[in-house]
Amino acid sequence: MHKKRLLHLALTSLLAMTAFTASGAVDEDFMRNVEDTFKSADSAIGLKDAKTATSDARELEKLFKEVTDHYAQKGDAAEGVKLSQKSVDLSTKIVTTVAAKDFDSAALASAELGRTCKTCHNVYKQD
Ligand code: HEC
Repeated sequence: MHKKRLLHLALTSLLAMTAFTASGAVDEDFMRNVEDTFKSADSAIGLKDAKTATSDARELEKLFKEVTDHYAQKGDAAEGVKLSQKSVDLSTKIVTTVAAKDFDSAALASAELGRTCKTCHNVYKQD
């Protein structure tokens, strides 16, 4: 019983720490990393370089999950949650289509991801 409570406490504080990190996710450095990874994935798809495309798309999945958490915690940001979740899904689609050596579908998913970046910037990014 006691042990269980300790574990619960440890988990709770771990979650709180993760939440703290995630809430700072969407800044310039973070987005530059997103952009570099996206460009690398997109050109790897064009070159039919499955290895690079897959590892970049996996990285994008992770990054956009952080963005999803960021908007989920921010509150009143349903559009941000939706668009970052869509970006996670499109990154997953790149992973699965590349695994099937379907580079045409991967390129379509990548192009749609590129449009999703812009849609979110139109809503949330001030220039
Ligand atoms: C769900 C929302 C969202 C999505 C999706 C998104 N971004 Fe962003 N992006 C932002 C916000 C908000 C900023 C402004 C951050 C800031 O300046 O603090 C930004 C800023 C940027 C910047 C400017 C960084 C700078 O130097 O000021 C780049 C580049 C960028 N995003 C690239 C991308 C790319 C590439 C994608 C898609 C693969 C993408 N973003 C997807 C929200 C998003």
